[in-house]
Amino acid sequence: MEDRKMEWKAEYSVGLREIDDQHKELLSLFCRVTDVLDDSKSWTDVHYRIVELRTFATYHFEFEEALMRMFGYPEQDRHGDSHKQFFIKMAEFEKHSILGDVKQDMLQFLFDWLFSHIMKSDKAYAQHILSGATVVQS
Ligand SMILES: [Fe+2]
Ligand SMILES: [Fe+2]
Repeated sequence: MEDRKMEWKAEYSVGLREIDDQHKELLSLFCRVTDVLDDSKSWTDVHYRIVELRTFATYHFEFEEALMRMFGYPEQDRHGDSHKQFFIKMAEFEKHSILGDVKQDMLQFLFDWLFSHIMKSDKAYAQHILSGATVVQS
């Protein structure tokens, strides 16, 4: 397992400052969710932190999807499906957190998201933009 801290590292950069800033915020919200799983068994706390994460993730994913549309990124549908899966998974964790301990599964999922989505899928569309793609839709 990779380093368990979800602190921002330069290697996470996709090369677009606005997206990097949003990913920094996302990572800090990941920590806020997993922290509450450490500190408290209160379902309302878990629920509140998941709502915070979901709210920001909605903004971030919509921002990315708009960029992908604008720059005609060919994998935009598949990327959008992956964003939808994130919300499905969050809803499952929220439901299961009422009855049991979801901390390890949730940590695993968030780390997988960092390493497979941010580090691979997000870098791929950013590379498409940075390699000189032209705007196809405003
Ligand atoms: Fe992202
Ligand atoms: Fe994404």
